Amino acid sequence: MEKVGIFYGSSTGNTETAANQIQQELGTDMADVKEVSDASANDLETYSNIIFGASTWGVGDMQDDFDVFLSEIENANLEGKKVAIFGLGDQDTYPDSFVDAIGIIYETLEGKGCEVIGQVAKESYSYDVSKAEINGELIGLPLDEENQGNLTNERIKNWVQQLKGQFN
Ligand SMILES: Cc1cc2nc3c(=O)[nH]c(=O)nc-3n(C[C@H](O)[C@H](O)[C@H](O)COP(=O)(O)O)c2cc1C
Repeated sequence: MEKVGIFYGSSTGNTETAANQIQQELGTDMADVKEVSDASANDLETYSNIIFGASTWGVGDMQDDFDVFLSEIENANLEGKKVAIFGLGDQDTYPDSFVDAIGIIYETLEGKGCEVIGQVAKESYSYDVSKAEINGELIGLPLDEENQGNLTNERIKNWVQQLKGQFN
């Protein structure tokens, strides 16, 4: 497996913590972690395997730093890359916009020639509407520290195992 670049945006630290856990699971020598406010399109092009992570704010709004970073994603050449997405959210308080940031990132990647990997089943979550749900499955990994923090470690472990078999 080639080295992975993990790019995250986090307002209160939850996505940052998850990004660091994902790096640990991949192996610290196999993955770099970068906050998106310190990253550019050039940084993205360094990696053939990329993980994006962002939380959802407002009602279905992208985390502030990651919102700015979307234009760097749009400008980057992502042809042939494998990309996985995770997102932090709160399914009880925001059941109609649960982890929408995952879906917003996915929409930004459409037509860019990269393959989005790391889909997960929706059954262990309880929400009404999410931009992360496409054709009955979640196109990235949702994590919910408010309501299901006890599941986070296991979800990350399983997801990273899945990614290890799919990355370039
Ligand atoms: C004002 C406010 C608005 C939020 N809006 C949403 C939302 O629309 N959808 C969602 O899934 N989570 C929402 N959340 C939950 C956050 O995404 C969650 O707390 C997340 O863990 C924050 O991650 P961060 O610390 O990395 O920014 C909201 C939280 C707050 C305080």
